[in-house]
Amino acid sequence: MQQAGKFITFEGIDGAGKSTHIAYVAENLKKRGIHVVTTREPGGTPLGESIRQLLLQEKMHIETEALLMFAVRREHIAQVIEPALKRGDWVISDRFTDASFAYQGGGRKLSLAKLNVLEQWVHPHLQPDITLLFDVPLEVARTRLDATRDLDKFEKEQEDFFANTRAEYLRRAAEFPNRFRVIDSTQSIPEIQREINGLISALCDGNTNA
Ligand code: ADP
Ligand code: TYD
Repeated sequence: MQQAGKFITFEGIDGAGKSTHIAYVAENLKKRGIHVVTTREPGGTPLGESIRQLLLQEKMHIETEALLMFAVRREHIAQVIEPALKRGDWVISDRFTDASFAYQGGGRKLSLAKLNVLEQWVHPHLQPDITLLFDVPLEVARTRLDATRDLDKFEKEQEDFFANTRAEYLRRAAEFPNRFRVIDSTQSIPEIQREINGLISALCDGNTNA
């Protein structure tokens, strides 16, 4: 695909704090005169948002779950992500394929080989330019979640599910160091914002190795 804009993804276990920082990054980019599309997975399209309800509430076979995640993603790429990048807009997505590797692969133990097949099928030529991984110990994430909301199907999972999800995120960050930036999300919100500012400035200046 001919890509003019940049593609930024936010990742982390539930309660790590990624949603807190998305609006901040979008504002930061808009102040620089960049057109920004913020979106999320599972979801991002009317069809995807309908399937999201099922994914977050209904019990299902782990392969059904993985297939639905990638079906939603296929629609999201076709309807939202690729058109935006072609226009030259920047896209910020609250989760993308790394979440499937972390949750379905790490958490649910679906084979990574099967997930690789789905990734190759659904987006063989598209990868985020940068992935911000918000990393926190499980107890911190759990305390933040308990303080704020009713828990969905994933958020009700046990500790070892999140330990494996987090471990798979960190394994991918080590595997793809050019794309991932791991953010210590135990820091205060202003400290994290300062760190993100530096990363975004580097991306705007074309220096993605910051
Ligand atoms: P996620 O999107 O990763 O599930 P959220 O951004 O919704 O997480 O954050 C979960 C809760 O934790 C929110 O109430 C948020 O205000 C709080 N929170 C986020 N980041 C921090 C932080 N660095 N320090 C303290 N609380 C935080
Ligand atoms: P999220 O939007 O982060 O939830 P919330 O709105 O509560 O912050 O993500 C929804 C859930 O979907 C989250 O628990 C992770 C899960 N998920 C997967 O299991 N696989 C995937 O591929 C994606 C994109 C999300």
